[in-house]
Amino acid sequence: MVYALILAGGIGNRMKTEKPKQFLMAGGHPVIIHTLKKFCAYGGFEKIIVLCPDEWIDYTKKLIYEYMGGYTENISVIAGGLSRNDTIMKGISYIEDSGHLNDNTIIVTHDAARPFINNRIIDENITAAAECGAATTAVPATDTILYCPSGKNVESITDRSALYLCQTPQTFFAKKLWELYQALDSREKETMTDASGIYVKNGLPVKVVPGEMYNFKITYPNDLITADAYIKHGIV
Ligand code: CTP
Repeated sequence: MVYALILAGGIGNRMKTEKPKQFLMAGGHPVIIHTLKKFCAYGGFEKIIVLCPDEWIDYTKKLIYEYMGGYTENISVIAGGLSRNDTIMKGISYIEDSGHLNDNTIIVTHDAARPFINNRIIDENITAAAECGAATTAVPATDTILYCPSGKNVESITDRSALYLCQTPQTFFAKKLWELYQALDSREKETMTDASGIYVKNGLPVKVVPGEMYNFKITYPNDLITADAYIKHGIV
């Protein structure tokens, strides 16, 4: 069985708005609704689990009702966690509590703040994870990336042709990810913000699915303006 985990548990500090960014409007709809509609249109999920801050659960349900013609059976809205990985673990716990977690359960984890996901990327994620164990979406880096741990002086520059920028979805066998995450110590849990990094740390393969430049994450106010323009001009 394949489950979608829509990660909406963040509060969007960098956006500096009262509402978390996934609830802000772009092209006449809240960002999270654009994302959810893409996952509903894909059609291949046992369930779509939306994970948001506890205090935003009722609000999220209302949005789904208002913009998606009802709170469908196929969508569950539950509380996320303190970190992004915690949020993913809450999603896995939910599947376990419903009695459906087994070795073949696949989770497609996607940032609610990335509304321009498409069927091709979702499809290739599921195929890649089924074959390889884990998949992440990524695009080639377009800017040179400086390694600058002090924030002051450049320490090294890696050949750009080898560098990719991570996007989502990231797709995993749920039980395996759960086990790998639980084996981390508390410092690793804090620093390992990217779930695919947990596989890499353990020497396990992660297949790269080509993303799209337009599958960007809304992070800063200008991203919302870009998203709005994309939708209004029918670019995606
Ligand atoms: N996310 C989540 N649970 C968390 C933190 C983040 O589900 N505890 C989700 C966000 O809602 C978002 C995605 O993960 O859809 C990417 O998060 P990111 O933009 O890095 O974090 P935010 O907390 O949303 O924003 P900021 O870093 O600016 O505070």
